[in-house]
Amino acid sequence: MHIRNAKQEDLMNMQHCNLLCLPENYQMKYYMYHGLSWPHVSYVAEDDNGNIIGYVLAKMEDDNNDDKVPHGHITSLAVKRSYRRLGIAQKLMEQASRAMVENFNAQYVSLHVRVSNRAALHLYQNTLKFQINDIEAKYYADGEDAFAMRRDLKSLL
Ligand code: ACO
Repeated sequence: MHIRNAKQEDLMNMQHCNLLCLPENYQMKYYMYHGLSWPHVSYVAEDDNGNIIGYVLAKMEDDNNDDKVPHGHITSLAVKRSYRRLGIAQKLMEQASRAMVENFNAQYVSLHVRVSNRAALHLYQNTLKFQINDIEAKYYADGEDAFAMRRDLKSLL
C-alpha cells in the first residue's frame, strides 16, 4: 500500500471509489476543479498493483470566506471496504492537512459529516482531534443533518 499525491489521471478512479463508498457523488468536472485548482492537497492510496483503494479529495476555501483565514476543506474521503481499519484514512487526512499548511499556510481544515456516520466521526474526533463547530440541519439531500467540524492546523506550522 502506498499513499501519494493525486494526479489528473487518478480522478476517474477516485470517482469510482466514491461511487462505491458514499451517497454523496460528484460530476467529473468537480473532481477536475479540485485537481486543477489545488493539485497539491488531494491524495490517493493505491495497492501493490496500482489500483486506487482510497482517496481524499480536498481544496482550499475561496478568499471570500467569512473570517479571511486561509483554510482547507475536505470535500470527500473514502477507503474501499476490504481495506478499512488499516490506518489508510488517517494517513490520507494527515498528508492532505500537511500539504494545506505547507502550500497555503492553512490555519485549519474543515469538513461536513453525517451525524449518523459513526466510523468517520470516530476517525475525525478521536484520532484526528477535529472538533464539532456547528450542526447544519438537513445538510444532506436525504434530509440528514451534518456536523460541521474543524481541526486546528497551527501545530503543523
Ligand atoms: N468504527 C469505529 N471507529 C472507526 C471505524 C469504525 N468502523 N473506522 C475507523 N474508525 C476510527 C478508529 O478510531 C480508527 O482507529 P483504530 O483502528 O486504531 O481504532 C481510526 O478511525 C482510523 O481509522 P482508519 O483505519 O484510518 O480508517 P479507514 O481507513 O478504515 O477509513 C472511513 C475510515 C474513511 C470513514 C471508511 O470507513 C469509509 O470509507 N467509510 C465510507 C465513506 C465515508 O463515510 N467517508 C467519510 C464521509 S465524510 C467526508 O467525506 C468529509
